Amino acid sequence: MIRALLVAGTRPNFIKIAPLHRAFDQHEAIEPILVHTGQHYDAAMSDVFFQQLELPRPDISLSAGSGSHARQTARVMQELEPIIVEQRPDVVVVVGDVNSTLAAALTASKLHVLVAHVEAGLRSFDRRMPEEINRIATDAISDYLFVTEAAAIKHLREEGKADEAIFFTGNVMIDSLRRYEEKARSVSQHEVYGMNARSFVLLTAHRPELVDNPALLAVLVESISRIGDRHPVLFPIHPRTRKRIVEFGLEDVLVNSAGVHLIEPLGYFEFLSLMIHAGLVLTDSGGIQEETTALGVPCATIRDNTERPCTIEVGTNELLPLDPDVLEDASNRALSGLWKTGSLPLLWDGHAAERIAAVLATVLRD
Ligand code: UD1
Ligand code: UDP
Repeated sequence: MIRALLVAGTRPNFIKIAPLHRAFDQHEAIEPILVHTGQHYDAAMSDVFFQQLELPRPDISLSAGSGSHARQTARVMQELEPIIVEQRPDVVVVVGDVNSTLAAALTASKLHVLVAHVEAGLRSFDRRMPEEINRIATDAISDYLFVTEAAAIKHLREEGKADEAIFFTGNVMIDSLRRYEEKARSVSQHEVYGMNARSFVLLTAHRPELVDNPALLAVLVESISRIGDRHPVLFPIHPRTRKRIVEFGLEDVLVNSAGVHLIEPLGYFEFLSLMIHAGLVLTDSGGIQEETTALGVPCATIRDNTERPCTIEVGTNELLPLDPDVLEDASNRALSGLWKTGSLPLLWDGHAAERIAAVLATVLRD
């Protein structure tokens, strides 16, 4: 039996590991061991995803919690090391690009345990993003690299990775989306806020480059407030962003914007339901760029770059600058039905996790 230690710590990690855990569990040759690092810990950022995505309780829970990058990364490493020594897994599987991802990959590779990185090779070429450092460093020490799109293969080859280590298996985040899409459609979460389908903008923002900068966050707030004058805006607020809005004294502007609805972070079904029915999704998220492309829903990403270029090349995503005029115009365009249509990237078919399980079973059996 191949023992695969599966590590997750943040909201998008849980959505990515759920199909992996299921596929490992159902595979005759793989036994999953689930570790929650505790990087995200609020019920709305963690527990709800375990319930909705039918994940079992973690076999092992660490207490990474919040803190500086070094502190958070070190804490995962310190707590995970004895677990790996004790469990002696055949492989440690990490997903995405968060601090827990890098921490687990580093810990395992120093203990000479094989590392598989799911969602490898994505590059924004912007090292101001903590995630870019995590992606480069994790890939550098991973033994098996599972990629979601063609650009990632090119990046890994350019960084000297052998073709034998790279596997184009598709997108596990889209596995979750396809599994729960019907369920989410039946939720009709927009009706809870009295919205009609395609008549509202759904907004998320949490990148530190944007929300930790008082001047930029103020421009975002002004943009939202202006869009809110024309179209309802639903804004489930990430805890980092909520904290900054209060700290920078921007709460009043938002609360006094009649069209802007500030809500708590939502569960997966509720958020998926809002994406499905939105006229436009305005975001700086990584995963949401992919989900909107998979759903064919207009998405405007408020960033200078994206590590997920296929969402622009074949999907419904556009990169837009943080400029109130540009964002207002984008909202008007999308809600008038004038957004580009897209197509589905290769292998985003709901079966990536099964392919990853099959690859691991083959390479680890040899
Ligand atoms: C992290 C990831 C980011 C990912 C995001 C997904 C890194 C470097 N960043 O960013 O790549 O896109 O998760 O959502 O790993 N907080 C709470 N409750 C929680 C979790 C966080 O209140 O359950 C607050 C704390 O004030 C904390 C802040 O949010 O300091 C930031 O949390 P952290 O995990 O450090 O980074 P994220 O911004 O969530
Ligand atoms: N998401 C959610 N509730 C929310 C906001 C996002 O369930 O209120 C889901 C979303 O559908 C996607 C994931 O969380 O699957 C994206 O997480 P996030 O934007 O926090 O992280 P990133 O993808 O940028 O790393």
